[in-house]
Amino acid sequence: MSGIIINGCGGRMGKTIAAQCAEKGINVLCGVDIYPVSADFPVYTSLEDIPDPCGVVIDFTTASALESVLEFGIKNNIPLVLATTGYSKEQRELIEKASKQIPIFNSGNMSVGVSVTARVAADIALSMGEDFDIEIIETHHSAKLDAPSGTALMLADEIQKAIGEREYVFERASRRMARPKKEIGIHSVRGGGVIGEHTVMIIGQHETISLTHKAHDRGLFAYGALRAAEFIAEKQNGFYNMKDLVSAEEK
Ligand SMILES: NC(=O)c1ccc[n+]([C@@H]2O[C@H](COP(=O)([O-])OP(=O)(O)OC[C@H]3O[C@@H](n4cnc5c(N)ncnc54)[C@H](O)[C@@H]3O)[C@@H](O)[C@H]2O)c1
Repeated sequence: MSGIIINGCGGRMGKTIAAQCAEKGINVLCGVDIYPVSADFPVYTSLEDIPDPCGVVIDFTTASALESVLEFGIKNNIPLVLATTGYSKEQRELIEKASKQIPIFNSGNMSVGVSVTARVAADIALSMGEDFDIEIIETHHSAKLDAPSGTALMLADEIQKAIGEREYVFERASRRMARPKKEIGIHSVRGGGVIGEHTVMIIGQHETISLTHKAHDRGLFAYGALRAAEFIAEKQNGFYNMKDLVSAEEK
């Protein structure tokens, strides 16, 4: 990998990536942010302004930036690590479509630990069977824009793949009824400086199994994003996620 382009280099995650690159000796080709940022690499206000595009883009910005990032990747044949969360269904379809032309790594959570948690939670849900209800609780800092978190949805998707289709329910206040079996409840808590906590509860009549993942600092997402960048740097076009990375590393 010749180096990385950090899209959103002035943000919480962008700065964490830059710090890890400096620590590990990874080459940051440049950064991009819509606001001025002082850094020890060139910074542009738009991907389009990069004079000589190469390397891999790591994107931690905002969902509305997606179209410009995809356009830049396709135009310059550059692999993309899309770590931003909050994409709509239509945007996820655009990502799938773009991945027919360039390598794209997309995960709502760049932590290897979360990926393993999802796999184990899906296994437990399947083993416990239909009598068990699934509820997911996520907690994040008060500045987080989207809810529920991309990670909570990813956990629900993995469980759903294992046990069959479920309706996702995000609040219960507007209805008065017993909990139907065929749903996964997803609940968001916001406050303070919590980096990210996710608990999957598999709840039966006589017992509950809870699995919790806690992020101690943002470094784990930066670490995962840099591993993802290395993983897709030499890949052909295609859609890759944390499961692909974990299974490639387990081999
Ligand atoms: N996948 C993961 O593991 C993971 C982990 C943490 C955060 N995230 C997600 O990453 C995103 C960023 O998180 P953050 O905490 O760093 O946010 P942040 O608000 O601190 O940083 C975002 C940065 O992007 C910049 N930006 C906005 N639009 C832009 C554009 N069009 N082009 C270039 N730069 C632009 C902003 O100026 C800001 O500096 C969020 O969607 C968050 O949920 C994902």
